[in-house]
Amino acid sequence: MSTEGKERVITTRKLLEMKRRGERISMLTAYDYTMARIIDEAGIDVILVGDSAANVMAGHETTLPITLDQMIYHAQSVARAVSNPLVVVDMPFGTYQGNPVEAVSSAIRIMKEAEADALKVEGGYEVMDSIVKILSTGIPVMGHLGLTPQSIHKFGTYAVRAKESAEAERLLADARALQEAGCFALVLEKIPAELAERVAKELEIPVIGIGAGGGVDGQVLVFHDMVGLNNEFSPRFLRRYLNLHDEILNAVKLYIDDIKEGDFPGPDEQY
Ligand code: KIV
Repeated sequence: MSTEGKERVITTRKLLEMKRRGERISMLTAYDYTMARIIDEAGIDVILVGDSAANVMAGHETTLPITLDQMIYHAQSVARAVSNPLVVVDMPFGTYQGNPVEAVSSAIRIMKEAEADALKVEGGYEVMDSIVKILSTGIPVMGHLGLTPQSIHKFGTYAVRAKESAEAERLLADARALQEAGCFALVLEKIPAELAERVAKELEIPVIGIGAGGGVDGQVLVFHDMVGLNNEFSPRFLRRYLNLHDEILNAVKLYIDDIKEGDFPGPDEQY
């Protein structure tokens, strides 16, 4: 299912049209070819190659260690698999902050080498120079405000953000500025539902929430959390649709038992 040279069915323009007609946007992370194919087949609108790969694929505590080369590897695997959803790739920590020139070269590498459709960048005014520079090259950018995991060492906690009015006002100002700069969509992570709804109502661009309530234009979850692969992570906003941790655990135990008992392979499972 190669997509080389083809535009995917969902475009940034289509997402804008979905918001205008009140159609909710579905978004899920993926990091590899096999899962991305299944997620595409299910009909998802947007796949995010999230830097959460640092946590769920590589076992890091934070998203900070993942490199540009590693993100490109994940993005290539996903982009190769899908033909319908828009493929958005996270710019990893350290590839865009404080240096717009480096931001552009990182962005161009991801777009060229991974055949992504768009990039996601965490932060507001503090990274605006980099966002404006990336946008000036014609690369679509999705913003990300609220809980921004790349800044975990600044905040020191993964608790709900923007509960106080000063931070809520700053978030609103950042959201307006990101739209004004030309971002095509915005992720809001772990903020009060009322504030998220206010942002979604005020902005023309789609606002996708994670832990931001139902008053926004779409929802995103981390794939591994949503299918229950990771049973140590249970925030209130997470709805688990499967318990794959237990399913896989039981399957592997059965496999081990079958080998130990000499039951596998059976007569029909050999040449
Ligand atoms: O990296 C990621 O998975 C994300 C989502 C949580 C939005 O940024």
